Amino acid sequence: MYFKIVYMQIIEFGTGDGSPVIHALETWGQYTGVIHGFEISPSAATAARHSAAAHGVSNQYKVLNSCFFKGLEQLRPSTLVANPPYVAAPDNDIMMPALHGGVDGANLTRDLMSLGLDKVMLLISSYSNPVETLQHARRQGYILRDFMVTAMPFGKYSSEPKVMRWITQMKDERKAFFSPRTYLLAGVLLVKPSTGLRQQKDLTDEVLAVMTALH
Ligand SMILES: C[S@@+](CC[C@H](N)C(=O)[O-])C[C@H]1O[C@@H](n2cnc3c(N)ncnc32)[C@H](O)[C@@H]1O
Repeated sequence: MYFKIVYMQIIEFGTGDGSPVIHALETWGQYTGVIHGFEISPSAATAARHSAAAHGVSNQYKVLNSCFFKGLEQLRPSTLVANPPYVAAPDNDIMMPALHGGVDGANLTRDLMSLGLDKVMLLISSYSNPVETLQHARRQGYILRDFMVTAMPFGKYSSEPKVMRWITQMKDERKAFFSPRTYLLAGVLLVKPSTGLRQQKDLTDEVLAVMTALH
C-alpha cells in the first residue's frame, strides 16, 4: 500500500488557486511524487503557481495553464482528483460561466468518470443530478470505496435566480436535492476493482441515501 501511495501518478482537473492540493501536500508528508494540475484560466494558474512556490511545494505541484482534456494526452496517470464545475443551468449564460457543469451540472463530472483511470476522487453536489451521476460511475465499472459529505450554504453563483429556478425544477424531477438553506457536497473515492484494494465494498447506495435526503 505504501508503494502505491508514493509512486502513483496524480493528475488534477481544475486547479483554481491550488489551495486544496497545496494544503494536502503540506499535511500529507508521505507522498513524494509529483501532482500535475491543469487549470484553463491563465490568472488562476498563475496564482496557483505563486502560491505553490510560497508554500515550498512547487517541486511537487506542477500547474499547467491548459485544458485538462488536452494535457491528459501527455501523461499516463493512475489517479485523478477534481472539484469540477457543477453549477446546473440550461446554458452557460450565467454569472460565472467557468463554473457551469452542463444542463444538469454533472456533464464534466461524468466525462471525468469516463476516462478509465484507476482511482478518481471528486466532489459531487446534491443539486447536480447525483443519482444519475453515481449510476454512471457504476456503469464505468467503479466501486465507491469511501466518502465524506458536508453541508454547503448556497453561494453567490449557486443562488443566482436563473440557477435557483432551474435547480428547483430539477428538484421536482428528483434530479436535485437541497433545502432552502443548504445543499450537500460529497467527496467520493471511486476505484476500479482491478486496483486490488483489499476492502471492495461498494458504498454507492449509502452515499445516495445521504445525498437524496433533502427532498
Ligand atoms: C470548482 S473550481 C475548483 C477549483 C479548486 N480545485 C478548488 O477546489 O478550490 C473548477 C475549476 O476548473 C477550471 N476548469 C474548468 N474547465 C476546465 C478544463 N477543461 N481544464 C482545466 N480546468 C478547467 C475552472 O477554471 C475552475 O478554476
